[in-house]
Amino acid sequence: MLSKNVELKNKTILVTGAAGFIGSNLVKELLRTVDGINIVGFDSCNDYYDVSLKDYRLKEIDKLSKEFPGSKWTFVKGNLADKELIDSLFEKYRFDVVVNLAAQAGVRYSIDHPDAYIESNILGFYNILEACRHNPVEHLVYASSSSVYGTNKKIPYSTEDKVDNPISLYAATKKSNELFAHAYSKLYNIPSTGLRFFTVYGPAGRPDMAYFSFTNKLVKGEKIKIFNFGNCKRDFTYVDDIVEGVKRVMQSAPEKKNGEDGLPIPPYRVYNIGNNNPENLLDFVRILSEELVRAEVLNDDYDFEAHKELVPMQPGDVPITFADISDLERDFGFKPSTSLRDGLRKFAEWYREYY
Ligand SMILES: NC(=O)c1ccc[n+]([C@@H]2O[C@H](COP(=O)([O-])OP(=O)(O)OC[C@H]3O[C@@H](n4cnc5c(N)ncnc54)[C@H](O)[C@@H]3O)[C@@H](O)[C@H]2O)c1
Repeated sequence: MLSKNVELKNKTILVTGAAGFIGSNLVKELLRTVDGINIVGFDSCNDYYDVSLKDYRLKEIDKLSKEFPGSKWTFVKGNLADKELIDSLFEKYRFDVVVNLAAQAGVRYSIDHPDAYIESNILGFYNILEACRHNPVEHLVYASSSSVYGTNKKIPYSTEDKVDNPISLYAATKKSNELFAHAYSKLYNIPSTGLRFFTVYGPAGRPDMAYFSFTNKLVKGEKIKIFNFGNCKRDFTYVDDIVEGVKRVMQSAPEKKNGEDGLPIPPYRVYNIGNNNPENLLDFVRILSEELVRAEVLNDDYDFEAHKELVPMQPGDVPITFADISDLERDFGFKPSTSLRDGLRKFAEWYREYY
């Protein structure tokens, strides 16, 4: 296990993408569990998907923050690509830890909207790195993605695997983030950790993701398309497990050391965070439909078989994702543990309440 070398108590933390799915859950967890934390949330609240969901998540954070008056929560609306704004925030707040989750997500959208990926994921991330260079932080943690593995044949996917063959622009930007971070860690001794998340799901999740859009369609009585004729496997990871992983990682920054040449050995690491247990898409959808019936989102005589359509693979998609998380377990004594049944139950119950 790595020792904790970053204390979060009474520290000032920047969480970008704070109105997003993972970011909002991280902010809530930090407010609940870390005394005297000062969190600055940053997000453009763009309309890639329903903005009211982002407003809802921010309201939930506001509500929760009132229960923890010893901590501080500030929200700043803005674009990562706005260098002046990012620089001014770093100068004003002197962040101790930065967690960069803001990004243009989604593999399919990158086919028709490449500009959004260059703006948020390349320019935006560069601005974060530059700001960390000029305003030293104890740890920069940032989101990468399992999509960097492309059509990797070897499973489970290991961070030791060569990932030079992205099959979407989204994946290429995420791999670029890791490369940029490596260069900045080496040149400016910035402790950085990249996290390759594997298909994250849960309450108030992203409506562009399959489980959410399937639910919307099933509710409307529409057919759902199951790609690769159902022969897809995904390492579905429940959001609370991801948040727990991020929180642990934040507290152990790679150590700064110099090599024999007197220059920094890059304080740089990358981990997978996934469930380490790929599930067949058809089983996933079956459990989802059962949980939607249980939560009374669908009627109990719902004919699921009549609402599914098996179709070929889509460009940019991969047939399987499967995380090797041995490094995560070794260094943080942690592995995701929420079962699909429990996770989808929480999603279905939230969906009933929200809609
Ligand atoms: N959810 C997953 O399954 C998954 C899997 C792999 C990687 N990731 C990565 O994890 C991170 C968080 O993902 P999420 O699922 O919470 O996505 P999300 O879309 O819900 O959250 C991202 C947030 O970033 C904001 N944002 C986008 N561009 C911005 C910009 N230029 N300036 C400021 N804010 C901006 C969006 O408004 C959004 O609220 C992303 O980097 C994503 O690529 C997610």
